[in-house]
Amino acid sequence: MHYLKDISEVRKKISEYKKNNKSIGLVPTMGALHKGHVSLIESSKKSCDITVVSVFVNPIQFGPNEDFHKYPRPIEQDIKICEEVEVDILFNPAVEEIIGDNLKTFVDISDLGDNLCGAKRPGHFRGVATIVSKLFNITTPNRAFFGKKDIQQLYIIKKMVEDLNFNIEIIPCSIIREADGLAMSSRNRYLSEKERIDSLVINRTLKEAVKLIEDGEINSKNVISFFENKIKEINSAKIDYVNVVNENMKNVELIEKGNIIAIAVYIGKTRLIDNHIIGEKICW
Ligand code: PAJ
Repeated sequence: MHYLKDISEVRKKISEYKKNNKSIGLVPTMGALHKGHVSLIESSKKSCDITVVSVFVNPIQFGPNEDFHKYPRPIEQDIKICEEVEVDILFNPAVEEIIGDNLKTFVDISDLGDNLCGAKRPGHFRGVATIVSKLFNITTPNRAFFGKKDIQQLYIIKKMVEDLNFNIEIIPCSIIREADGLAMSSRNRYLSEKERIDSLVINRTLKEAVKLIEDGEINSKNVISFFENKIKEINSAKIDYVNVVNENMKNVELIEKGNIIAIAVYIGKTRLIDNHIIGEKICW
């Protein structure tokens, strides 16, 4: 595996691969890798000759009161995981290499960013779209792999690729969960033992809400209040948002197949997100 920190080194390696007609898969991450990330890497390895993983904790997607400084950075462990799954390039640039102190150009995203996490985290998706564009330009992949765990991010990136004519296929990957159903996240490691147990209210209630819908409930207000009432039963849990949206990330009143029930819940100080696309199989 090539562990690279410089953009120029990455460009050089990629152009060698391309000269030999190799297809390139990119898996952008912020590190603290877990099985969710690994499933993206495995999808890339299945359909591309070369897999590039980026590990970069992107300062411009964090708000001033968010966890940028606290975000876990276990790079030795990440290197080991990438070596084990036979990643070809691990790109781990310093902040100065990517952002510098004079970044003037940003990718402004559409109203896809007005609801859900976009509404709660102003500027977040502008930061994500900008950094992902930079990673696309640096690594020029044929395919890039994104998890459905961050469903709004996935839809925003898909639209950005269409609007800005990136010649890249975006591959959505399923949410990977712990054995007890909690969606895997680098932020789960912030949870205390007690909070880890409390956090299960998220996936448990999501599953129950989906069951309600599958049993015929179509009114999103009823589903949302069901969700709110269940979350209230857990002292450490506080809803940031719960919405049912369509693929344009707009709230819907009447639920139909393909809509998404999307939630963000604080467990203590840790903000966790989860979602389910109505009509897809529940797998937890
Ligand atoms: P990060 O949170 O590290 O996630 C990297 C990728 O892994 C994203 O596509 C995310 O959806 C996916 N992922 C995370 N947990 C997952 C799970 N449990 N199951 C399936 N996929 C999962 O998302 C980011 O980083 C950043 O915003 C980034 C795109 C790298 C831009 O900075």
